[in-house]
Formats: sequence, structure tokens, C-alpha cells
Amino acid sequence: MTINYPHSALKSLIFSIVLALSSLSSLSSFSQEIPTDEASIAAGKQLFDTNCKTCHRVDSRLIGPPLGGVYDRAPSIEWIQNFVKNSSAVIASGDPYAVNLFNEYNKVLMTSFSSLKNEDILNIMGYIKSEAEKPQTATPDGAAQPAGAGGGAAGAPEYLNLILIGMVIILILLVVILLFMISAIKRFLDQRPLTEEQREVVHSPINVGTITRSRGFIFAVAFIVAALGFKAIINVLFSVGVQLGYAPEQPIAFSHKIHAGQYEIDCKYCHTGVTKGKNATIPSVNICMNCHNQIKSGTNTGENEIAKIVRAYNENKPIEWVRVHNLPDLAYFNHSQHVIVGEVECQTCHGPVQEMDVVRQHSLLTMGWCIDCHRQTEVNARGNAYYDKLMELHGKSGKANMTVEEIGGLECSKCHY
Ligand code: HEC
Ligand code: HEC
Ligand code: HEC
Ligand code: HEC
Ligand code: HEC
Ligand code: HEC
Repeated sequence: MTINYPHSALKSLIFSIVLALSSLSSLSSFSQEIPTDEASIAAGKQLFDTNCKTCHRVDSRLIGPPLGGVYDRAPSIEWIQNFVKNSSAVIASGDPYAVNLFNEYNKVLMTSFSSLKNEDILNIMGYIKSEAEKPQTATPDGAAQPAGAGGGAAGAPEYLNLILIGMVIILILLVVILLFMISAIKRFLDQRPLTEEQREVVHSPINVGTITRSRGFIFAVAFIVAALGFKAIINVLFSVGVQLGYAPEQPIAFSHKIHAGQYEIDCKYCHTGVTKGKNATIPSVNICMNCHNQIKSGTNTGENEIAKIVRAYNENKPIEWVRVHNLPDLAYFNHSQHVIVGEVECQTCHGPVQEMDVVRQHSLLTMGWCIDCHRQTEVNARGNAYYDKLMELHGKSGKANMTVEEIGGLECSKCHY
């Protein structure tokens, strides 16, 4: 902590000494207040993820300071509670620790959480403390988790390669065996009394001319050409209107890999519509400015790209993002139905977005794609009152689980206006 906050650490030391003098027992009772039981820590994690995670990490600096150890470096637990509930009031009161911190963090005002109770804030501290004290090896594991979605796809080609290599080896072996058999048969025939004509056939040279004129060869070539042509036509037919992999260039080099991957910003923080209705929505400039008010320069693109955000904000012009995913007007798709009710992960349909510098269309978005998933996926009916009745009826038919198909997910009118 002394590395990051030389000044504040000194001040907090003075504070601690003053506090310790005024009431010797109070310091230890403060640290005892941070809960260590599982339930409080779980409640704290929940609160931290929904309220604090956009700006704080436990062990690294984001928009705000790393919160690991804050219970030891801040003046007191009570101070933390006041600061979280209304940081601007604490700063306005001239509290030196707060003013110092505020200046160090480029005068970013932390959101006020007046609705949080003291107990909630203690639970958050309990969670932070439990995270901070975890052995270091646990962190890289956690960071690697979101990458899992893309892992399966990479395995497949390797597997195919092995099969191909195996087949080539078998083919070579077959050729060698055939050559052996031919020479054995020739030797056998040579020992027989043959007419001149027969001898000629046995020793007729195998060359390109004789092969290409043979019927078997002509048939094989014709078959391969026809098959390839057929496949090409099928491919063209299937790709009409399909834009798999479409990844247009955007007016600002916004990277999901940096925001959603490296900084783990929740998809819903920017795509606020997913929980509410049909459209996921693209974030407005205001949402970008929550952070880029302060962050003026990026590691990869320097100040150029972020300056465009600030310009759009000052000129009050929306950024003209190029749309990647597009269903035809005749089809109806609703995000909240899938994300909230169905609990389908964004990545199931959009792929590992958190690893993409430029978003690309990951799924086919054809009617067949929608239908396939509705046939295979079971609805998430547990704890959902809407489905209780359906499940009850369904239970009587003897099957335990219901697919989307069985609640009517294949009816034309559900997806077509
Ligand atoms: C909008 C971003 C933002 C959010 C959300 C946020 N903080 Fe902060 N926090 C900050 C900034 C920035 C600071 C540094 C002080 C300042 O500039 O006001 C800070 C400082 C703190 C400090 C003092 C840190 C220290 O080193 O002494 C604590 C404690 C804290 N925040 C807790 C929380 C908790 C708990 C939550 C969630 C309930 C939360 N913050 C949510 C931005 C945020
Ligand atoms: C919750 C905070 C947050 C929000 C919201 C946010 N960003 Fe960022 N942005 C960051 C951080 C952190 C960086 C990394 C800076 C660095 O590279 O050190 C960054 C970097 C960038 C960069 C530079 C990347 C590079 O490496 O050069 C661009 C461009 C950018 N953001 C665009 C946007 C746009 C557009 C929006 C709104 C749609 C947005 N950001 C919203 C936190 C945020
Ligand atoms: C910091 C804000 C931010 C976060 C966090 C974020 N996005 Fe985005 N997203 C954007 C912006 C801005 C665009 C438009 C520019 C583009 O396509 O890159 C976008 C575009 C998209 C698109 C393409 C939309 C289209 O045009 O069809 C998808 C899909 C998407 N995001 C999914 C996700 C998912 C999944 C996550 C979480 C893993 C996520 N986003 C997190 C800001 C964000
Ligand atoms: C069941 C599949 C599915 C899931 C799950 C899903 N999406 Fe989509 N998403 C789509 C389809 C299909 C479209 C095209 C919709 C259209 O053109 O009307 C789309 C479009 C989008 C767009 C651009 C257009 C718009 O609607 O504003 C964004 C951004 C987006 N999705 C983000 C997300 C995020 C973030 C999540 C997770 C919280 C998510 N999606 C989950 C299928 C899905
Ligand atoms: C990854 C799987 C998946 C894909 C892909 C998918 N869906 Fe769904 N869909 C679901 C699930 C799961 C539900 C059930 C949600 C619930 O519990 O109501 C659902 C429900 C629906 C419903 C409501 C059905 C009803 O009877 O209430 C509609 C409409 C719908 N999807 C349309 C679409 C369209 C249009 C597409 C293609 C653009 C699509 N879905 C692609 C998984 C998927
Ligand atoms: C789960 C959702 C879903 C259901 C159920 C569904 N469709 Fe579709 N349908 C779509 C989507 C999405 C598209 C657009 C696909 C595309 O652009 O490739 C589409 C496209 C079509 C098209 C092609 C239109 C064109 O311009 O190419 C026809 C025709 C069609 N649907 C008829 C039907 C009929 C008839 C039914 C009932 C038997 C049905 N659909 C049920 C989602 C659905």
C-alpha cells in the first residue's frame, strides 16, 4: 500500500495512531466487525459485482483504487461506510484522506450509494478481504475462465488433422502392398509358358497415357468434378443472405477484448436493453464518458480514438456504429426473452465477444439456427411461476424436461409478425 499511496498511507498512519490513543480497544473491534462467514461473504460478492465492479478490482487499479486492504489503510471502517454512502460529502468536509484520494484519482467522483446499509458495506468488505487473502494462484485461473467458450472449436481441426494423417499413412501402405503384389504376379506369370501377345500384356508399361485412357480413371474424375460442383452450388444457395463472420470496420476502434475481456466490464453495463426487451441496444456516448472523462489515452491507439468519443460528446452527435447483426424485418427476436427468461448466455449466440477486438457475426442467424436450438434446449422452468402450471401438466405426460419446442417455440407466429 505504501507504493501506491505514500501520502495517504502516512496520513492514515497518523489517523490510526490518533484513533488508537483515543480508544485502545476500538481498532481491534473495527477489524473484528468485518464478517468472515460464508453467507455474508456471498452477500458481499453480490453487492460488489452489481455496484462496485465497474470501477474497482480487489488487487488492481481500475477507475478507482484497488480495494484489497482498504480496511487497513482507510482512516476507519466508519469512514469507509460514510464514503461509500456519500463520497462527495466526505470530500466536501475537507477530510484530508478523502481529498488526497480524490486528487490522486483525477477528481473522479465515486457514485453515492445512499441505499446501502452499514451492514451491506461490511459484507462487501468481508468479500474483499476474503478475496485479497486468497492464495495468489487462484487469480490467473479466474481470468482464464471467460476464454472457455472458444476453446472447444480450436480442438476440432487438430483432431481432424490426426485422422487425415492416419488415412494418408494407410493409403501409402496400400500402394506399397499393391506394388509388391504386382511384381509377385509378374514373376509368377514369367515362369509360365505364355504367347508373345500375353507376354506383351503382362509387361505393358504403366504410363500416363494408359492410365488416363482407362475407364476407371475417367469415371473417377467425372465423379469428383460432379461432386465438387454440386457442393459449390449448395454452398452458394445456403449463403444467400447469410453473413457469417461479417465484421465491418467501426468509426471508433472500440475493442471488446479490452473492455469486456481485460477489464471485465459486464455486457449489461453497456448493452442495457438486453434485460428490458427486444433490442440489446448500443451504448450512447454518455456511457463511454462515464469512464473516458478520465481515461484519455489507450495503450494501443494512444489518444486518437478516445478523442473521437470526446468530440462526439461535445458536439452532441451520436457515434455512427455500423450494425453487425441484422435479421430481416419479417422475423421477431427478443433479447430479454432469451437472456433473462431463458438464461441463455450472450456467448452461446454471439461467440467469445470478450476476445474480439472487432465484433464479428458468430452464428448463422438463419431460421434453421433458431429452430435447431429450440428443438434441443430445455426451458429454464425452475423457480419461474409462469411455467409452474405448464410443468404440472407436462409432468403428467411422464417426461421430466420441456424443450422450447414443447412450449410452442416452433410455431410460425411466435417468430413471424
Ligand atoms: C463510478 C466509479 C465508482 C464506483 C461504481 C465505485 N467507486 Fe469506490 N471509488 C471510486 C474512485 C474514483 C475512488 C477514489 C476517490 C475519489 O476519486 O473519489 C473510489 C474510492 C473508494 C474507496 C476508498 C479507497 C481507498 O483507497 O481508501 C472505497 C472504500 C470505495 N471506493 C468503495 C467502493 C464500494 C464499496 C463501491 C460499491 C458499493 C464503490 N466504491 C463503487 C470510483 C467508484
Ligand atoms: C467502465 C469504464 C469504461 C467504459 C464505460 C468505456 N471504456 Fe473505453 N476504456 C476503458 C479502459 C480502462 C481502457 C484502457 C485504457 C488503456 O489501454 O490503458 C479503455 C480504452 C479505450 C480505447 C482505447 C483502446 C486502446 O488500447 O488504445 C477506446 C478507443 C475506447 N476505450 C473506447 C470506448 C468507447 C467507444 C466506449 C463507449 C461505448 C467506452 N470506451 C466505454 C474503460 C471504459
Ligand atoms: C464498454 C461498453 C461495452 C461493453 C462492456 C460490451 N459492449 Fe458490446 N458493443 C459496444 C459498442 C460500442 C458496440 C458497437 C461497436 C462495435 O460493433 O464494436 C458493441 C457491439 C456489440 C455487438 C454487435 C452489435 C451489432 O451491431 O450487431 C455485440 C453482439 C456485442 N456488442 C456483444 C457484447 C457482449 C456479449 C458483451 C459482454 C461480453 C459486450 N458486448 C460488452 C459496447 C460494449
Ligand atoms: C438466443 C441468441 C442470442 C442471445 C443469447 C443474445 N443475442 Fe444478441 N442478438 C441475437 C440476434 C438474433 C440479433 C439480431 C437481432 C435483430 O437483428 O433484430 C442480436 C443482436 C444483438 C445486438 C445488436 C442489435 C440490437 O439488438 O441492439 C447486440 C448489441 C447484442 N445482440 C448483444 C447481446 C448481448 C450483450 C447479449 C447477452 C446479454 C446477447 N446479445 C444475447 C441473438 C442473441
Ligand atoms: C441458443 C439457443 C437459442 C437460439 C439460437 C434461439 N433461441 Fe429462441 N429461445 C431459446 C430458449 C431457451 C427459449 C425459452 C425461453 C423461455 O423460457 O421462455 C426461447 C424462446 C423463444 C421465443 C418465445 C417462445 C415461446 O413460446 O414463448 C421466441 C419467439 C424465440 N425464442 C425466437 C427466436 C428466434 C427468432 C431465434 C433466431 C433468430 C431464436 N429464438 C434463437 C433459445 C434459443
Ligand atoms: C424460432 C423462430 C422461427 C420460427 C418458429 C419460424 N421461423 Fe421462419 N424465419 C425465422 C427467421 C429468423 C428467418 C430469417 C432467416 C434469414 O434471414 O435467413 C425466417 C425466415 C423465413 C422465411 C424466408 C423468408 C425469406 O425472405 O427468405 C419463410 C418463408 C419462413 N421463415 C416461414 C416460416 C414458417 C411457414 C414457419 C412455421 C412453420 C416459420 N417460418 C417458423 C424464424 C422462425
